[in-house]
Amino acid sequence: MMPIRIYGSPEENLDIAMIAADKAAKLIRSFHREKKDLQIEFKGKNDLVTKADLASEALIKEVIGNKFPDDIFLAEESFDGTALTDQRTWIIDPIDGTTNFAHGFPVYCISIALYENKEPKMGLIMEAAKSELFTAVKGMGAYLNGRPIHVSKIADPQQSLLATGFPYRDLGLIDDYLDLFKTFMKETQGVRRPGSAAYDLACVAAGRFDAFYEYGLAPWDVAAGILIIQEAGGIVSDWKGEQDYLFGKRISAGNPIMHKYVLEQIQKHMRPEFLS
Ligand code: IPD
Ligand code: CA
Ligand code: CA
Repeated sequence: MMPIRIYGSPEENLDIAMIAADKAAKLIRSFHREKKDLQIEFKGKNDLVTKADLASEALIKEVIGNKFPDDIFLAEESFDGTALTDQRTWIIDPIDGTTNFAHGFPVYCISIALYENKEPKMGLIMEAAKSELFTAVKGMGAYLNGRPIHVSKIADPQQSLLATGFPYRDLGLIDDYLDLFKTFMKETQGVRRPGSAAYDLACVAAGRFDAFYEYGLAPWDVAAGILIIQEAGGIVSDWKGEQDYLFGKRISAGNPIMHKYVLEQIQKHMRPEFLS
């Protein structure tokens, strides 16, 4: 007899992700509120993990795993290098912005995405400090706390606000990156570095930032944000303008016009060997 697999409807998938994110946000906040020991450890240079990251990930996996026992996980703190398959896979960052969290700077997110056949079906980003909930289900639009969101209409770089991440592990590209940064400082209203790639992407979807670019990212940083931006009418690409942004470590995203502008500047300032 064929085993019976449990698959959720789009609503069930989003519902369980929301329940998991809500519980995880409460758990994360309790670390600061109750002054619990964060037990900070280093996975690598400037690569922090705290007890809250591990507890958040375990909780999210438990909540989703109880509902959908046949699904698999690609989650930051338990990642073993396994490739994404066609199976229903939940891609999870239990705290995106751990450095912010460890310092008490209130920008840190829970990011949960569901992929099926390697395609995003649902994305959720919960900014845990402010309880902002960004969600998207494929084909059904993007939302912030239940209200529809759209990318901005800004078309003139001089009127735009960009976001990025400053490299802190792989510094090999730093000279070209600073060159690029210099151009954006001159040609836009400013460049922000909130410290959570998931939040940066969510803010592009909500029209707060007009575009975002970064390198050195992992799939769990971007898996949910990609769908939320696409559902909000934005464009996402890698630095070649192609589609290898989930595992390709480089991303550029924005409203259609500002995405084009940022991508052109990236390709102008970064040496070709740094584009992938
Ligand atoms: C980090 C944040 C940060 C980005 C780093 C990520 P983490 O995630 O998204 O903004 O610049 O590349 O690793 O480690 O806090 O989950
Ligand atoms: Ca992250
Ligand atoms: Ca993380």
